[in-house]
Amino acid sequence: MLAGLTAGGIAEPAVAAVLFGVGWPIPAVVLLIGGVMLAAGAALFAHTTLRGKFRVWDAELDRLDLRGDEQVLDVGCGRGLVLLKAAARVPRGRAVGLDLWTRDQSGNSQEAASANARAEKVADRVELVTDDMRALPFEDGTFDLVVSSLAVHNIPDADGRAAAVREAFRVLGPGGRLRLADFRNVRDYAAVLRECGAADVQVYDLGWRFWYGGPHARTSMVAAARRP
Ligand SMILES: C[S@@+](CC[C@H](N)C(=O)[O-])C[C@H]1O[C@@H](n2cnc3c(N)ncnc32)[C@H](O)[C@@H]1O
Repeated sequence: MLAGLTAGGIAEPAVAAVLFGVGWPIPAVVLLIGGVMLAAGAALFAHTTLRGKFRVWDAELDRLDLRGDEQVLDVGCGRGLVLLKAAARVPRGRAVGLDLWTRDQSGNSQEAASANARAEKVADRVELVTDDMRALPFEDGTFDLVVSSLAVHNIPDADGRAAAVREAFRVLGPGGRLRLADFRNVRDYAAVLRECGAADVQVYDLGWRFWYGGPHARTSMVAAARRP
């Protein structure tokens, strides 16, 4: 997608210049405006990927005010963006990353996540598990915090996504908290959590720093808790 936005952002102004040259100003202006919008989308997309989503998750995790001894699960952890940030905040706890390591992320693998954990100096408390988020291999109530970023939408069917959300809630212990970020289906996730009896279910926008190219591809957070 980034490549498409960038290519359009370059090609459209180039064609517009040619159209100006041959005396077709109106189509040239239309193309120029389109090109500027595509270039802006590419810049926003790149910012989100390289910096924005990191800052947003830092703020979200800081707001949780963790004690440092929590058990944390990252569902669909990929190369470890959120997992490792959470691990850094639980020096006396444990951070488990679960993934099937599919191609939804470039360079995705358990080895890549493991190498990143070593590079971030949190490998001592990080555990990586290869499994499916629709049937988590953990007992009820194992975790104090379950996080997930842009992972649940990868499940193609609504029943599967609902199963993943139910599982994320099932493994939360009393008073445990859930933070699930995604750019699609978030209202459905919130409805599933309400059906499960979750407390404090909220959906909120994560702002422009988590836009993938523009406001049409914004990311929202679903927050919930298990009653103490
Ligand atoms: C877009 S990546 C996001 C990775 C990471 N959370 C991040 O924000 O960088 C989505 C991840 O979900 C994983 N995934 C997709 N379907 C899954 C499933 N059914 N069970 C577990 N992981 C899954 C993919 O392998 C991929 O690592």
